[in-house]
Amino acid sequence: MRKKYLLLLSLAVAVMAGAQELKTIKLEAPDKSGGIPVFKAFAERKSSREFAEGSLKSKDLSTLLWAANGINRPDGKRTAPSAIDKRDVDIYALMSEGAYVYDPKAHALNPVAAGDYRASVSGGQEFTKAAPLILVLVSDLTRFNASPDDGTKLVGALDIGIVSQNISIACAGLGLATVPRGTMNQAELRAALKLKDTHYLGLNHPVGNMKK
Ligand SMILES: Cc1cc2nc3c(=O)[nH]c(=O)nc-3n(C[C@H](O)[C@H](O)[C@H](O)COP(=O)(O)O)c2cc1C
Repeated sequence: MRKKYLLLLSLAVAVMAGAQELKTIKLEAPDKSGGIPVFKAFAERKSSREFAEGSLKSKDLSTLLWAANGINRPDGKRTAPSAIDKRDVDIYALMSEGAYVYDPKAHALNPVAAGDYRASVSGGQEFTKAAPLILVLVSDLTRFNASPDDGTKLVGALDIGIVSQNISIACAGLGLATVPRGTMNQAELRAALKLKDTHYLGLNHPVGNMKK
């Protein structure tokens, strides 16, 4: 009886450990020819603070991340320009099961931490809690120089702004809802994403399907 109980207990622990373990998400190929024409996307771009229930289609997630800061040329350059081509902006993706960071080369989401950290971006704006996905834009300032200063911070912030606009336009093109936000609980997010002092945490984008 005791043996059976111990076996069941160890099985339960193994299942719980498995649930906490995040795996790399290999994204499917982005849809580089879909969506609406780019000038229609400019016409449609707006901040949306309401999200329909349900997660994003996997194709939309893939296309959105590629459009945000993916590789668009054989030499590895990106959809977003960056100062001195340092490609300093990393996109973290917060979803119900955990936090990931986008790897443009592998077109994959690499695990950062298991657990739901989406509440850390709300900063009192409750609408963010309805978003299935939150993209967090971080500039790794060490890609500019070993000891970042206010100048590098400014350049990192500029690069983040460009990735943010890519996200807004891509969402408009895909019919997704988003809003660029500076509000967030910096301390909580920095801890959750294991950021160093040399990471500049700039903006976040709650993303979801458009509420009809
Ligand atoms: C740098 C920046 C920070 C922003 N921060 C927030 C924010 O914390 N919360 C929010 O609800 N909207 C935020 N916004 C969205 C603006 O409020 C919004 O863009 C503005 O009201 C214009 O509306 P539109 O985007 O629909 O044109 C931010 C926009 C920018 C560019």
